[in-house]
Amino acid sequence: MSLASGGKGTIGAKALIPGETRPDEDEREWLPVGHRSRSPVLTDAHGRPITYLRVSLTDRCNMQCLYCVPPGPRSYAPRSDHLTNAELVRVIQAAAAVGFSKIRLTGGEPTLRTGLIDLVRAITVIPGVDYVTMSTNGVLLPRLAAPLRAAGLSRVNISIDTLSPEKMHRLTGGSLRQVWAGIEAAAANGLHPVRLNTVVLRGMNDDEVPDFAALTFRFPWEVRFIEMMPMTGMLDLARRGVVSSAEVRSRIEAVYGPLEPLPELPGNPARSYRIPGASGQLGFISSITEPFCARCNRMRLTASGQLHLCLLHDDEVDMRTAVRAGATQPELEELIRLAVWRKPWGHGLAHGVVPTLRQMAELGG
Ligand code: 5AD
Repeated sequence: MSLASGGKGTIGAKALIPGETRPDEDEREWLPVGHRSRSPVLTDAHGRPITYLRVSLTDRCNMQCLYCVPPGPRSYAPRSDHLTNAELVRVIQAAAAVGFSKIRLTGGEPTLRTGLIDLVRAITVIPGVDYVTMSTNGVLLPRLAAPLRAAGLSRVNISIDTLSPEKMHRLTGGSLRQVWAGIEAAAANGLHPVRLNTVVLRGMNDDEVPDFAALTFRFPWEVRFIEMMPMTGMLDLARRGVVSSAEVRSRIEAVYGPLEPLPELPGNPARSYRIPGASGQLGFISSITEPFCARCNRMRLTASGQLHLCLLHDDEVDMRTAVRAGATQPELEELIRLAVWRKPWGHGLAHGVVPTLRQMAELGG
């Protein structure tokens, strides 16, 4: 049973918030960085402004999505490896001081982090931090959306790969009803614009692409279709499963006709479109078939305090050792500048270079 079909057993029909609009801050986000932030703009050795830090708050997750975590028992870093909230705030302060103005909290599942609300509150007031957002599976949002919004979180991306309860259980181990309740909670609590992330996999959920696209008629959300990336332990699935954005788009156009392209936004890896007449929009993230390395503006921090310079390379800079050895803020800033300078140009998937060090669950997508 699919949500989009509107039949018996569907949920979510009441999620539309009448008059929902994009708040001003979302308009500002797409201004050139220098126009909105007090921080300097830091560029890497290839001239790319690097302004966006994705911070993994934990490697734990309450789901097991088959494209993210290899099947079977999981191994986690000991909790003592994770940066404490105070250590994390110190690293983000240094990052913001050198020019990172947007922070996204990721996981594992970031809502599992203890002290999350206090942490969000502490990050949003760091000088130079303009936006704090989150990528989540949504399960805990019914409880957390309101306090997260009150703590200053701007918005959320929620992963949802199927609209069928049974398939959701099979693909993720999770419950569609819970995820949908999380999406509704995000929308109801002003975490706008709500974005849904869907990794499209051949033979698993590719038949649901038009149903996902149809959600944009009912809700003013952005539904983003993501090409699966080949992370360690997932290479076979990625090889067999990846569905190109071009194919996803043509499946949508076969049902709804030509999509209307929307302006490209700096720093946004998605190519955006609208089905004529829809209130929401569609995004395509084509990491494999159309890599956006030239526009890359991001780095990642693992929960264990390693700056990970490119999602698809293993290069890291160890911030935890520095923080725990009592590095001063200027020393942390210098380390981050160095890390940015060392950021690899692009991924080497076309030449068979695949990362081996970390799973997606440690890097937060
Ligand atoms: N390829 C592409 N996207 C992935 N994600 C997790 N693993 C992969 C992968 N192998 C996505 C999730 C989530 C985001 C944080 O990362 O769908 O939306």
